[in-house]
Amino acid sequence: MKIVSIINYKGGVGKTTVTANVAGELANRGYNVLMIDLDPQASLTFSFVTPDYWKDELANERTIKSWFRPAKKNLGLKFEELIITPEAVESYVSGKLDLIASHLELINVDLELATQLGGANMHQAKTKFLEVHRKLLNGIHELDPDLYDIILIDCPPNFNIVTKNALLASDFILIPAKPDYLSTMGIDYLNSSVNKLVKDYNEYCQIEDEEETPPIDPKIAGVVFTMVQVYDGQPISSIRPYIAQTKRSNVVFDEYIRENKTLFSEAPLIGVPVILQNVKTAQQHIVSEMTAFIDEFEAKVLI
Ligand SMILES: Nc1ncnc2c1ncn2[C@@H]1O[C@H](COP(=O)(O)OP(=O)(O)OP(=O)(O)O)[C@@H](O)[C@H]1O
Ligand SMILES: [Mg+2]
Repeated sequence: MKIVSIINYKGGVGKTTVTANVAGELANRGYNVLMIDLDPQASLTFSFVTPDYWKDELANERTIKSWFRPAKKNLGLKFEELIITPEAVESYVSGKLDLIASHLELINVDLELATQLGGANMHQAKTKFLEVHRKLLNGIHELDPDLYDIILIDCPPNFNIVTKNALLASDFILIPAKPDYLSTMGIDYLNSSVNKLVKDYNEYCQIEDEEETPPIDPKIAGVVFTMVQVYDGQPISSIRPYIAQTKRSNVVFDEYIRENKTLFSEAPLIGVPVILQNVKTAQQHIVSEMTAFIDEFEAKVLI
């Protein structure tokens, strides 16, 4: 089972769209896939289930918010109980395509977790840090390791405790970015924040038995450019410098995701990612390009 966080500090760069399409295509290829929505905006959730279904069936007890509550309130809750199989997309895939939904109040959970940090001495502070930052990892470890081939975690555009939970549980980190100044600017900072977090975590783990908590080493799978404007088979000239500059200090996927507002904005209404839809002939190149990116991703992460 491989665990991948999809993250960029920058909002609106295509994280959720990439998560939904990678998950859909891998499930179409026969993999068993679990998506976890860690963003309080719940865009990934609402790309697969309707707001009514969320309100009636999930909001109360069946979202990731329940998992991050203090342990006392969660007595007996199993991580597996949070998993749902969205219906609209089920018939499009041969593998499993499951989801753990998010909750709009997840933002409060982050603040609550922050109040649990600290302690009277260094040892206590480290213990608390591990407890608060390992909630998601503990949940994932509860699952039967054969249940899923891959877990894709859609992160919010921040570096809060819930996001750190995702990174510390991950084998790989996938960074979607728009080829513009602001979206690419944060990538180096993200890399160094991840390195510092992993370093701190591994150091704090030394207070525990090494066999039970081995050091972690999440790898950057790479940067995938999204919403790329193309002319004559190439990214337009104004964005090429940002792609070239990012390649100088990062692993960048060869394939990119092209811009098409209509196609991508309508997918959540249908509950089926673009890559699984029967799109018009004129749009098929967009799907082929995404498929090629997922070939690259699959080779890196799953094969
Ligand atoms: N390749 C694309 N071409 C055109 N529009 C796109 C593309 N990918 C995503 N979009 C649109 O851009 C908007 C933002 O995309 P998305 O929600 O995937 O980004 P995000 O990084 O997850 O955002 P947030 O930081 O808010 O979570 C959405 O309206 C989506 O439909
Ligand atoms: Mg998102």
